[in-house]
Amino acid sequence: MNIPLVDLKAQYRNIRPEVEAALADVLERSDFILGKSVAEFEAAFAKFVGVRHCIGVASGTDALWLSLRALGIGPGDRVLVPANTFIATALAVSYVGATPVLVDIDPASHTLDIDRARRALAPGVKAIIPVHLYGQPADMDAVLDLARREGLIVLEDAAQAHGAVHRSGRCGTFGAAAGFSFYPGKNLGAYGDGGAICTNDDVLADRLQRLRNWGSTVKYVHPEKGLNSRLDTMQAAVLGVKLRHLAAWNNSRRQVAGWYKEALAPLADDVELPCEAPWTIEHVYHLYVVRLRRADRDATLRRLHEAGVGAGIHYPIPIHLQEAYADLNLGPGSFPVTEEAARRILSLPIYPEMTREHVDIVAKALWEALAS
Ligand SMILES: Cc1ncc(COP(=O)(O)O)c(C=O)c1O
Repeated sequence: MNIPLVDLKAQYRNIRPEVEAALADVLERSDFILGKSVAEFEAAFAKFVGVRHCIGVASGTDALWLSLRALGIGPGDRVLVPANTFIATALAVSYVGATPVLVDIDPASHTLDIDRARRALAPGVKAIIPVHLYGQPADMDAVLDLARREGLIVLEDAAQAHGAVHRSGRCGTFGAAAGFSFYPGKNLGAYGDGGAICTNDDVLADRLQRLRNWGSTVKYVHPEKGLNSRLDTMQAAVLGVKLRHLAAWNNSRRQVAGWYKEALAPLADDVELPCEAPWTIEHVYHLYVVRLRRADRDATLRRLHEAGVGAGIHYPIPIHLQEAYADLNLGPGSFPVTEEAARRILSLPIYPEMTREHVDIVAKALWEALAS
């Protein structure tokens, strides 16, 4: 049996009639741009997250960089970003002309290490982007404390954390704004690209509504230079359907993580399991990332693929070692915790439709891969 990293077809089979009805409604109305489904989804997602405003945009990347722009971050500014994240977090900073200041991670939670963030403070640092990575909240009490002391703007990257709960609140409610991605494989995924910004700031929300629509809220009146980055109405209709299932799907992901914990317990000498940080109330397991203590990670990954298990690596090349960021002049050894993680981590399949049998198959394949 092949077990993919994520199985979108299994999810579609379970919700097909609801999705088809929602899409048929859009086609009937033909309100394809900023249609009724967009406004309905924005209201529902704002309620789910627990914020006053949700602004649908074209992608998670746009959600982050438009937020930075609306928050007034620009050329000459610096923004603290964890070294271990998807490159889009750093690119969002680059897009507004600012410079990402990378910060190494806490080895247990894989999220930004606040002591290192404090040490990275320098003139020009205006903002910090905590990333709720793999579905686990970042250390938000510490982030907010640092931000208050140093006058930093907080923008959450919640692309991997729809529904995740920190002991001080839900992810997406902490910062001046939070960017979400609806990339298809996310916990809440569209059938194409999509993203959203959540905020409690009325003025920021107005500005973002304009920015995503060529700088206009009244047709052909443009108080500023915006762009075209709207959440597509068809995607919003799909997301509206899926949002109704999100809490149950997140529960299923946690159940799968529980099964992995049992099934992988005998491999404890070789495999370190993902931790739930002391500040985490609900980890939503967007990814199930283990760390191999001594085995050759790449060989293990190859053997898993040969056994039909779709494991992955998030992420194999840290941002500072990407050619795109050669201009940061940060060579190997700059962020040892991130670099060590990049060599040792392995993402095992996880999706809400996984069964105990699937988990046992993955655990057996991993055991065999490590034994050979
Ligand atoms: C942590 C993180 N930030 C940002 C993004 C960018 O989102 P998108 O692919 O929707 O542009 C992603 C996902 O791709 C992500 O995982």
